[in-house]
Amino acid sequence: MKILGISAHYHDSAAALLVDGVPVCAVQEERLSRHKHDSSFPIGAIEWCLGRAALAPSDLDAVVFYERSMLKFERILTCALRAFPHSWRSFPQAIKNSLGEKVWIRGIISSQLGVPGNKVFFTDHHAAHAAVAFFTAPTRRAAILTADGVGEWATLTIGHGERRPDGRSDITLLREIRYPHSLGMLYSTFTAYLGFAVNEDEYKVMGLAAYGRATMSDKVRRLIRRTSDGAFVIVPDYFEYHTTARQSYSSRFIDLFGPARNPYDPIDLESPEGRRYADCAASVQQVLEETLVDITRGLHRETGLADLCFGGGVALNGVANARILAESGFERVFVPSAPGDAGCALGAALYTDRLYFQQPDREVPDHAFWGPTVDARELAHAAREDGQAVEELDESALIERIADELITGRIVGWMDGASEFGPRALGHRSILAAPHARDIRDRLNRDIKHREEFRPFAPVTTMESADRFFELPAGGARLARFMSGVFPVRPEWRERLAAVTHVDGSARVQVLERDMAPRLYALLEEYGRRTGVPVLLNTSFNVAGEPIVNHALEGYLTFRRCGIDVLVAGPTLVMKRVAGPGKSLKEAVA
Ligand SMILES: [Fe+2]
Repeated sequence: MKILGISAHYHDSAAALLVDGVPVCAVQEERLSRHKHDSSFPIGAIEWCLGRAALAPSDLDAVVFYERSMLKFERILTCALRAFPHSWRSFPQAIKNSLGEKVWIRGIISSQLGVPGNKVFFTDHHAAHAAVAFFTAPTRRAAILTADGVGEWATLTIGHGERRPDGRSDITLLREIRYPHSLGMLYSTFTAYLGFAVNEDEYKVMGLAAYGRATMSDKVRRLIRRTSDGAFVIVPDYFEYHTTARQSYSSRFIDLFGPARNPYDPIDLESPEGRRYADCAASVQQVLEETLVDITRGLHRETGLADLCFGGGVALNGVANARILAESGFERVFVPSAPGDAGCALGAALYTDRLYFQQPDREVPDHAFWGPTVDARELAHAAREDGQAVEELDESALIERIADELITGRIVGWMDGASEFGPRALGHRSILAAPHARDIRDRLNRDIKHREEFRPFAPVTTMESADRFFELPAGGARLARFMSGVFPVRPEWRERLAAVTHVDGSARVQVLERDMAPRLYALLEEYGRRTGVPVLLNTSFNVAGEPIVNHALEGYLTFRRCGIDVLVAGPTLVMKRVAGPGKSLKEAVA
C-alpha cells in the first residue's frame, strides 16, 4: 500500500511517502524551494517523493492531508464571533470513522496531483503529531502527549498508543485542551513580545532564558491558570491572538511586563532592559516547564506506562523535555526528529496506514535521514569548474584528514547521504568544528551563521563517550538521539568544551550511535583518538535566513560565500584556496 502524507498551508509544509507501512522518503518543501519555513502546497516535495520511489500519482492508494481544514475554518470563524470554551474536553470518539470529510482541500489535492477525490483522506492535526511520535519510536506501548500552538481546535492532547500482539496498532487520544488555551501560543506570545519571529524563533527565547532569572514567574502564572482537573486556561485579557492577527499580546500584558522589545534593537545583556528580556524569557520558560512536568506526571500516574512519546512544536523545547524525563516518572521520552508540523506529513501517512486501513504494524527505521541524497560528483564538478582545489580520498584517509583540519581550527561543511527530516542537523548536513575554543564559536556566529551571541552551539558525541562529558540521566541518551534534550556539561569539561557549553553550563547534545551516522561516528572516534575528546561542535549547514542545504551544489554555494574552510561529500574534499583558520573568505580575499 502506497500512502502519501502532506502538511501545508500553515508552517513548514512537507511530504512523506509510506510504502507497505514503512517510510521511503520525506522532505520539507523549504529544502527544495529554498524559502525558509515554506508553507505553500508542497508540490516540489511531493514530486520529489514520487520520483524517488518511481511512482506516478495514479499508483498511490491514498493521499492524506494532516488536518481537517473545515474544522480549522470553523475554529477561526467561531473565534471571531464568540468567547471560548474552557479546559479539557472529551476527545471526539468518531475520529477514526470520519476520515475523508469533504472539504475544499480535497479539490486542491485532487487537481494538483491528478488523483481521484475518493483517494484523498484527512487526519486530525494532533492525531498526526501523535502518530509520528508513537510509530517512529521503538516502543510497543507508550503514553502520548502532543502540544503545539493550535491545530484545528486542539492545542494539547494526552493519550496512549499500543502495538498489539496481533499486529494491529492503536492510538487513543483521551482528552484535549482547546484553543485559545495553548501552551504553544503562550510561548509564542512571549516570542513576539521579546521581538522574535513567531513560529520560527521560539528556540531563541529558550536560549535567552539561560541568561536570565525567573523573577517574573508569578506574573506569567497570572496569564495561565491551572484548573482542578489538571488542565489549564489562559486568561484572555492578556492576549489578543484569538481576536486579531495583528498582535498576540494585549495592553494589559504590557502593563504587567513593561514595553515590548523592538525587533531591531540588539539585546544588550549588560543593560537593565537586556536583563529584563532575559528574565522574562527565563520566567515563561519556567512556567512552560512546570506545566508540562505537571501534566506528564498526571499522564504517568493515569497510564502507568514507562514510555512517553511527545510530539508537536512544543516538543522542540529541549530544556522542558529534559525536565519531563527527570521529573514526570516516565523512564523514556521519545521525541521524533520532526515533532513540528512538517513531521505531520509522515504522521498523517502512518496514522492512515495503521488505524484507518488497519495495516499490520511495521518497524520504522530509527533515524531521521529521509531526504535527498548528496551527490559527491556534483560537488567535485562544481568545485573544479570554479577553480577550487578538489581531492578524492579513500574513506580512512578522508576521516584522518578532516580530523586534522578540525584540530587545526578549520570549520568543516559536512554532507553525507540523505538529508535530515526535521529542523536539526543530525550529522548529514552539518557544519562541524572543534568544541573547545570560544573564538571558533564567535567566528561561526560572525562569519557563517550571522546570529545573536546568546545562542549556543550544540555538541555531538558518541554513545560510548557521552557520560564522560555530559550529565545524562537514565533515558537521556535516547532523548539526545535527535537533539531533543538539554543536559548539563560536566563541570570539569566546561572549559574544554567552551564553544558548545551554554552560559548556564548546559548543552543540547546529540548522542550518536554508530549505526545512525557511521561516517560522523568514525570522525568522532578519530578526533577523540587525537585529542582525547570525541566531541565536535555540530550546527546545521546553512547561513542565517536560509534553509539547511540539501544538494551538493547548495552546499558548495554556501561554502563559497561564508567562512567554511573545508567541504566534504562522499570521497570528495574541497579546500578553500585562500582561507585559513581564523579567516573568512572575505577577509582572506581582502
Ligand atoms: Fe502542530
